[in-house]
Amino acid sequence: MATIYDVAKRAGVSAATVSRVVNGLATVDAELAARVHRAASELDYRPNAVARNLRRSKTTLWAVIISDIGNPFFTSMVRGVEDVAQRAGFSVVLCNSDEDPAKESTYVAAALAEKMAGVIISPSGNAATVNRLIQARIPVVLIDRELPGVSADTVLVDNEHGAETATAHLLDAGCRRIACITGPRKVSTAMRRLRGYQRALKAHGIAANTDLVRHADFREEGGYAAMASLLDSGARPDGVFATNNLMTIGAVECLVDRGIPVPAEIAVVGFDDIPWAHLVRPSLSTVAQPTYELGRTAALMLSERITEPSRATSAVTLHTQLKVRDSSVRG
Ligand code: RIB
Repeated sequence: MATIYDVAKRAGVSAATVSRVVNGLATVDAELAARVHRAASELDYRPNAVARNLRRSKTTLWAVIISDIGNPFFTSMVRGVEDVAQRAGFSVVLCNSDEDPAKESTYVAAALAEKMAGVIISPSGNAATVNRLIQARIPVVLIDRELPGVSADTVLVDNEHGAETATAHLLDAGCRRIACITGPRKVSTAMRRLRGYQRALKAHGIAANTDLVRHADFREEGGYAAMASLLDSGARPDGVFATNNLMTIGAVECLVDRGIPVPAEIAVVGFDDIPWAHLVRPSLSTVAQPTYELGRTAALMLSERITEPSRATSAVTLHTQLKVRDSSVRG
């Protein structure tokens, strides 16, 4: 990694001049400043954000606030964050919000009190909490979920497209009474995936039937209860799209407990690939997210935000991929 001295040598100036240019001090001749910027760009120089934070009496800690590290989706994502943070000289403090805005708020308060260098958050739905960080000028990146009313760097996946593809796949498999088990209404991924499901039905000329939609808690027990409710409701589905990994597992457990053959009687597609989705029987069709890349991208954005606090906010959307396995293939 290029140092300030490499840049000075390349530009033919002193290290002090490079420091003044990098920190935006106007006391440098324009021609010299241009030489410094050119040399820094050619060497891909990154001002030492860690040293910068220490001078600003901040820590070298990042808070990563997610729903539940026990969920394989978040495990891989946090690993992507930590690998980048460590190389940039930062350490990660992991916080599980459990989709609880009050618990999330406690962790945000800790990040403020400790003057953490930055926060990466998969929000449980409360914009005011995240805006407290932004008002305190603590660099923030939203990951996995968007939050109306918050202007921050954001890294998402194409949730609606992934959900529409999954539902269209069930329609192509011959399903016509497709249920959707989705997450909490305040969570953007739950609502975006529900919208993708509804778009696919509409594109196939099938009227949306709210009797076939259940909102649960993104957890296994919630998926199980939602599946049981659908089976007991009389509006028996012939296909199910569950919008996260744990609820998919719960729904399939319910079908197995009821002796309902998958996919013969009810086909199943989930969202979030599961490391062992190909090992269970039937193997699970899922919409895979680039979880590690989500984390890595968010960490790079946070590192750049720390280095350049005034840069314009940006949004990155990564692509999902439908992985068709036995739980949705008929005939
Ligand atoms: O499993 C938890 C879900 O919530 C994941 O699908 C992830 O996208 C998050 O939004």
